[in-house]
Amino acid sequence: MPDPTAARRSGLHPYAGRFTVHDRLPDAGVAREEVLAEIATMAEEEDRRYHDGQVSGSIYSGDEEHYAFLTQAYARFAHANVLQRDMYPSATKMEGEIIAMTADMLHGDGDTGGVVTSGGTESLMNAMLVYREWGRETKGVADPQVIMPVTAHPALDKGCHYFGIDAIKAPVTDDFTVDVDWVSDHIGPRTVALVGTAGTYPHGLVDDIGALAGLASEHGLGMHVDGCLGGFILPWGRDLGYDVPEFDLAVDGVSSMSADTHKYGYALKGSSVLLYRPKALRHHQYFMALDWPGGAYSAPGMSGSRSGGIIAATWASMVSLGRDGYRRIAADIFATAAALVEAISAQPELRVLGRPFFNVAFTSASDEVDIYHVNDHLASKGWRMNGLQLPPALHFCVTRPNTQPGVVERFAADLSDAVAYARQPHDRPPRSGAMYGSAGARPPADQVRAGLVKYLDATHEVGPLG
Ligand SMILES: Cc1ncc(COP(=O)(O)O)c(C=O)c1O
Repeated sequence: MPDPTAARRSGLHPYAGRFTVHDRLPDAGVAREEVLAEIATMAEEEDRRYHDGQVSGSIYSGDEEHYAFLTQAYARFAHANVLQRDMYPSATKMEGEIIAMTADMLHGDGDTGGVVTSGGTESLMNAMLVYREWGRETKGVADPQVIMPVTAHPALDKGCHYFGIDAIKAPVTDDFTVDVDWVSDHIGPRTVALVGTAGTYPHGLVDDIGALAGLASEHGLGMHVDGCLGGFILPWGRDLGYDVPEFDLAVDGVSSMSADTHKYGYALKGSSVLLYRPKALRHHQYFMALDWPGGAYSAPGMSGSRSGGIIAATWASMVSLGRDGYRRIAADIFATAAALVEAISAQPELRVLGRPFFNVAFTSASDEVDIYHVNDHLASKGWRMNGLQLPPALHFCVTRPNTQPGVVERFAADLSDAVAYARQPHDRPPRSGAMYGSAGARPPADQVRAGLVKYLDATHEVGPLG
């Protein structure tokens, strides 16, 4: 028998030894104060990491008062199931308003409709399902494919994988946005939709949505804009004087767009908005089971029961911030990102990728500097960057906690030291390179996959690691 205690003490069971490991229900319930004290300890320790502004992405608002307010709103309806509309008509009001406010912000028209989902992944998966169904119904395509850039989020692959769609990957050009000519050359009879991203996860860039939407119109295809990351921050760029290209439903030919309220919408985790134009596209994701003994069943999307709390908190975030609130926070984020671009560009060994507005990716411009060595040093100084590959790079996705005074200056100084560290001779590969691979050092895909399966298993159980 493997020794479970040893496994529990490992990094994958991080509180073993401090708190009881509940591998079965406790015989007698633990007192509420004790439960809350345990949660408070973990939350306070873990949140400390983002308070000083050294974490890329992840925590979008970080305003404790805002969170306390959202939690109050959440608590009022946390127990409510919005599937039971007759009991909770408030959900109908709030959900409709979340969709309307988002559609208005993203320049939808009178024929724009939407749904609220549990996050970016669910929004993107729904969109893939809709284009499969729409393609089958209107074009008779039985074996659909969707063309998306290599930089598109893996949730789109996930949707294609779940729903039997071929995801065709278009390369990006030197500016790291989609190669539109390649897309044009690869549209065929099986193509049902194109995808572009407004605010890519890897590099924070905006694909040429106008050109993609033009192709979609020309060929009678669906066109989804993934604004999960950028949808709630890019809209304020123009007002603030930044040269943000058109990316939303203002562009003719865009037939759907996702925008995550739980990212730059500053709501609690677990919500995203998916918009369709025309509205009727939404019908392809509705599900009905009319002959069920439990009664005629219908749901607007993948979820069954959904918490009214998330809808209330999302609505509260949007209404309480208003356009002014979003614009104010965006101004700080855009300015911080611009200052980061300057700090990175001041290092001749580094190169910023493309023309980012809020999420800044950079790579090594010198054979003597491995970008993952740069990351190793930054990590030792408490920075939590996101590591990228193909090409090896890092990104710093700026959120509200990063806009505090002094953060950029600290980053600039640590980055300069990090480059100096990376330039030194190293006899070992970078620590942060192990996950993403550098200079061909990545283990074979099968090995990476097996390791990830082990990791995913281990993070979902308290027993011995397999
Ligand atoms: C561009 C983009 N799309 C989709 C997603 C997926 O969102 P979620 O993690 O909420 O499912 C992300 C997440 O970072 C993203 O950056």
